[in-house]
Amino acid sequence: MQPQIVEVIYGNKKTFIDLKWSLNKIMKPSITPTQVEHKMGPDDFIVSKTDLKGRITYANRIFLKLGQYPLESLLNTQHNIVRHPDMPRGVYKMLWETLKQGSEFFGFVKNMCANGDYYWVFANVTPDYNVSGQPQGYYSVRRKPSDNALATIKPIYKEMLSIEKRSGAKEGAEKSLAYLNELLAEQNTNYNNYALSLFKN
Ligand SMILES: Cc1cc2nc3c(=O)[nH]c(=O)nc-3n(C[C@H](O)[C@H](O)[C@H](O)COP(=O)(O)O)c2cc1C
Repeated sequence: MQPQIVEVIYGNKKTFIDLKWSLNKIMKPSITPTQVEHKMGPDDFIVSKTDLKGRITYANRIFLKLGQYPLESLLNTQHNIVRHPDMPRGVYKMLWETLKQGSEFFGFVKNMCANGDYYWVFANVTPDYNVSGQPQGYYSVRRKPSDNALATIKPIYKEMLSIEKRSGAKEGAEKSLAYLNELLAEQNTNYNNYALSLFKN
């Protein structure tokens, strides 16, 4: 979801808020995260599809089962319903920038279940085109990430998150993404290639 920054007057001060984020917070039930992890099976595929605005239009059985959501509560709902607060916003910024360019995204994502438990996935998200070649939405296929890959990615996300906490909502995602891109540029790679190589090793 792209931010929509508006200026508001609070008391006698002027400040800025992200309108979309605030509305989403109000409309999304708040869930307390737990430390209970669920793991995908080695042959599991989690599949979901969205419209162009990121609202879920399809979810397969394993997605519902792992997330502990009934289909009715997911359909037409923003995909951020499964967003975990440990995930840096910079990763989603990159996801949406990549998709808007018509490219596919690869990355590691920690998702939250309906009861606050969590699970990690290796996700491939791609634009979906209709028969006339017009974009009609996006879809994502997720597979089980290895423990080694997660051990590498977790400290990177942790640092991104702390950059975001220090920088605030407006600039946080940009700054944490700049950190990620710099880190990977030093290794002559980008996030898509890095994530793919971690997944394969
Ligand atoms: C096809 C598709 C699949 C997505 N899958 C997930 C997902 O599994 N978990 C998640 O947190 N966000 C996912 N997103 C991104 C969300 O739409 C959203 O950008 C993200 O949760 C961050 O929420 P926010 O933009 O409200 O900050 C997906 C987006 C698309 C288009």
